[in-house]
Amino acid sequence: MLRRLYHEQPASFEFTPANLAWAEGQIAKYPEGRQQSAVIPLLWRAQEQEGWLTKPAIEYIADMLGMADIRVLEVATFYFMFQLQPVGSVAHIQVCGTTTCMICGSGDIISVCKEKIAPTQHTLSADGKFSWEEVECLGACANAPMAQIGKDYYEDLTAENFSKLLDDMAAGTVPVPGSQQGRYSSEPAGGPNVLADYKGTGAQYNGSVQIAMDVGDTLKRIDGTEVPLLTPWISKGAGHGGAGKSVPKPAPTPKSAVQQAAEKKASDKLEAKPAANTPASDTGVTKQQADAKSKAQPVSKAEPVEGEVAEKKPRTMKAPRKAGADDLKKLKGVGPKLEQTLNELGFWHFDQVAKWTAEEIAWVDARLKFKGRIQRDGWIDQAKILAEGGETEFSKRAKY
Ligand code: FES
Repeated sequence: MLRRLYHEQPASFEFTPANLAWAEGQIAKYPEGRQQSAVIPLLWRAQEQEGWLTKPAIEYIADMLGMADIRVLEVATFYFMFQLQPVGSVAHIQVCGTTTCMICGSGDIISVCKEKIAPTQHTLSADGKFSWEEVECLGACANAPMAQIGKDYYEDLTAENFSKLLDDMAAGTVPVPGSQQGRYSSEPAGGPNVLADYKGTGAQYNGSVQIAMDVGDTLKRIDGTEVPLLTPWISKGAGHGGAGKSVPKPAPTPKSAVQQAAEKKASDKLEAKPAANTPASDTGVTKQQADAKSKAQPVSKAEPVEGEVAEKKPRTMKAPRKAGADDLKKLKGVGPKLEQTLNELGFWHFDQVAKWTAEEIAWVDARLKFKGRIQRDGWIDQAKILAEGGETEFSKRAKY
């Protein structure tokens, strides 16, 4: 099947402040120079936020990770877990159609999808609530047939119990994932003959089902406020629903001081984001430059948090020198979009970057999409070499 970007795309994408803070935390997990390894978690989070992966989301993440758009698009189109077209507002059903599930009745499940959702895959139901697709083995063959919905597996499906699942979801309830015939895990249907203490921890549900019940986010869009920052596996203390009952919506958990600070920081940065691309005005100053300049002045940064360097605006230029702008993409971590942002802020040349002080780095950092990139990628050292006509390891091998 061809996996291409959908023909209609939204104008823009941004992580919610909480999701942005989460994404920055993910990036920080990787060692110096390996931040691009965060591409899959970030794409997944974008999909959780929006339901599907849009072109602006792919470009946003490419920009965030200093990657070429095409590299992120390659990842998004390669993995089937990424949805490249709009999906149902309530759920996108991925029915396993591989051998074991097929033998155990996945055809019946697909028939229900065709009847209740849409005759063809990747088509929204009439009410826009559901979509479906057939996928290859999802590794739950012992509980076949099964379907993945969001993060969770729904197993031991029959036409009847699956049909009821859809009805429940359409009615606004979130069914308990896992076996729909009461199995705890993949023990024999009649109960275990050996290893009878298979329930191990004594939890009411097995493994990921218990997590889904604890976190309570199984079908919801994720705006980042649902789960503790960086530790989505930690329970929010939500109550457990009984088998077959709907999951009660958990009460909001008070945010920790760390989470609040992270969200505020992310929010500040979003306010400082430069405006969209617009043509040059008569004055020769683009709207981007004007907007970036006006936004760059006062708003984005409040009082410096303890331990942070105070900001100081570096000297900027309205336009590049007559000889033309330097190719700032020669700096590791600067892609086309980041170069555009730097230009909008008034930076065109390596020697400008090379002179930034710690306070000035803090000022620029606050106006880029996420913090720490300048130091992490060593822009200042790179810029000093490039400003003197030298080449860095990155500039020698990079293609722009
Ligand atoms: S064949 Fe369906 S999960 Fe393996």
